[in-house]
Amino acid sequence: MKTWTTTKIRAAKGGDPIPCLTAYDFSTARLIDEAGIPLVLVGDSLGNTMLGFDSTIPVTLAHMIHHTTAVTRAVRQALVVADMPFMTYQVSDEQALTNAARLVQEGGADAVKLEGGSVIVNRIERLVESGIPVMGHLGLTPQFVNQLGGYKVQGKNEEDARQMIDDAVAIAEAGAFSLVLECVPANLARQITEMVPIPTVGIGAGPYCDGQVLVYHDMLGLNTGRVPSFVKPYADLGNAMSNAFKQFAQEVKDRTFPDAAHSFGMKALANP
Ligand code: KIV
Repeated sequence: MKTWTTTKIRAAKGGDPIPCLTAYDFSTARLIDEAGIPLVLVGDSLGNTMLGFDSTIPVTLAHMIHHTTAVTRAVRQALVVADMPFMTYQVSDEQALTNAARLVQEGGADAVKLEGGSVIVNRIERLVESGIPVMGHLGLTPQFVNQLGGYKVQGKNEEDARQMIDDAVAIAEAGAFSLVLECVPANLARQITEMVPIPTVGIGAGPYCDGQVLVYHDMLGLNTGRVPSFVKPYADLGNAMSNAFKQFAQEVKDRTFPDAAHSFGMKALANP
């Protein structure tokens, strides 16, 4: 049994803050798990970070299963949550159940994440009563980018803030074990965190959430596009990798790589 279960994440509400990172591949997931991160998200942000799309809309269930499988092969301790991609749960409860089951059975995910408010409450109930734990996602929901008119902070006016609070309560009542709040004013995230009995996990939602999630490409300097202002750079691996690639190319051209230390020797042939 893993150290981190949905019950344990739920019980962490109001206690030590819960760190969470995205992962999409075996080797990164192993490092994240070994670092003791309790919650790993196979986000559909893989559309941007791994597949080069300019949004998460083109991400398919097949993409998600492929990457989730790589992550779950590596993770020993953390709870792995897989995103349900665009249009794999919006059509009906049956569609959501069939597709969530594939992420769990084929991908090995421990739970799934769905974007949206009160309109997906039935979906959440159906998945949870079938044994599939659900994480909700409110605020900036990237699958709604075409409706939101871009990647903007959400819940800035009173009406939107009230709607988000109602949605958060409905999601918790439907049985979700946790809730992502993305790009939400810090005070609204605080209010929601105080109102719902499940842990909130913030990204660009200030310091009052029960947990914090970042896309690892953003925090490691691997993002080739615009890095959101709420991201703290913890390392500059993009430049480190770029310099290593350039040095390798130069040394191959110079014939300084491979040298004797990086080549295999052999005994002289008896009859050359
Ligand atoms: O897809 C993703 O990586 C996410 C996080 C930003 C929460 O949903």
